[in-house]
Amino acid sequence: MEGRKVAIITGSSSGIGLQTSVLLARSGYLTYATMRDLRKSSPLKEIAIKEKIPIEICQLDVTDENSVSNGIQSIIRKAGRVDILVNNAGYGLTGAFEDLSIEEIKLQYETNFFGLIRTSQAVLPIMRAQKSGIIINISSGLGRFGIATNSAYASSKFAVEGLTESMSYELEQFGIRTIIIEPGIIKTNFINSSKLAVKAKDSNSPYRNFMQNSEKGTIKLNESGQDPELVAKIIMKAIEDTNPKLRYLAGKDVEQIMEIKNKLSDEDFHSMLNKMGD
Ligand SMILES: NC(=O)c1ccc[n+]([C@@H]2O[C@H](COP(=O)([O-])OP(=O)(O)OC[C@H]3O[C@@H](n4cnc5c(N)ncnc54)[C@H](OP(=O)(O)O)[C@@H]3O)[C@@H](O)[C@H]2O)c1
Repeated sequence: MEGRKVAIITGSSSGIGLQTSVLLARSGYLTYATMRDLRKSSPLKEIAIKEKIPIEICQLDVTDENSVSNGIQSIIRKAGRVDILVNNAGYGLTGAFEDLSIEEIKLQYETNFFGLIRTSQAVLPIMRAQKSGIIINISSGLGRFGIATNSAYASSKFAVEGLTESMSYELEQFGIRTIIIEPGIIKTNFINSSKLAVKAKDSNSPYRNFMQNSEKGTIKLNESGQDPELVAKIIMKAIEDTNPKLRYLAGKDVEQIMEIKNKLSDEDFHSMLNKMGD
């Protein structure tokens, strides 16, 4: 394995993280596919064995300080370097803003935002010493515009965008690139893993009907979701780009909606999204 470039991916048990781990390993990266629950490692293990690709599976929970620090340090001890970090672990919290508890919002940020800060801070010393490295943060179309019932999720992804953009100015002097990936609707475990706020389940919630309509819309939209392999391919393209960009959209749906958004005022975009929800 000597001489291979090294990649670390968080949230590799399913979806975008799993497909990205496979694609990086197929492309020759010594790939450390991390996940919080090793009991979910079988699908990835089977592909790695069948294809004889260089995947090492490691435990890492992005919300746990010790797990991140032990996990990343042990990878650095074994591999000696880190070329790519893909911060992919994440989940959605749904519910009207008034129905979200501070605790639920904090947990959303613990994974989607602070999780990515922990792993990035853990790899930066070695990337600086190497004078090279790429940190790829998985945001969302909802890192560019908010929608109803997703205020916690969208704001956590807006935070990822601001963080990554700011980091880019500081890290370019050390040869380190930061990249934001903005997927559209992708068919993964995401919808099943989403958490519905406790108060949103209450039949007395003033947002009950609104929530139910929104849930129907989400299920319908998810049917048109694209394959997670598409996001993995865009991540590879971002890594290999000779003229790298800060942001990459991943999916026809998000490309179309951003093209429209860029031409409209906030108010006209708001009216358009309202009409789409009718
Ligand atoms: N699917 C979409 O439509 C979509 C659109 C835009 C952006 N995204 C973003 O894409 C990323 C990947 O999501 P996905 O669509 O591939 O969904 P997914 O299939 O549910 O995968 C999410 C991954 O994150 C992991 N994870 C959650 N909490 C974690 C923690 N505390 N520590 C480590 N891993 C954790 C999950 O592990 P477990 O298996 O243990 O739960 C799983 O491996 C997320 O950041 C998501 O916000 C998804």
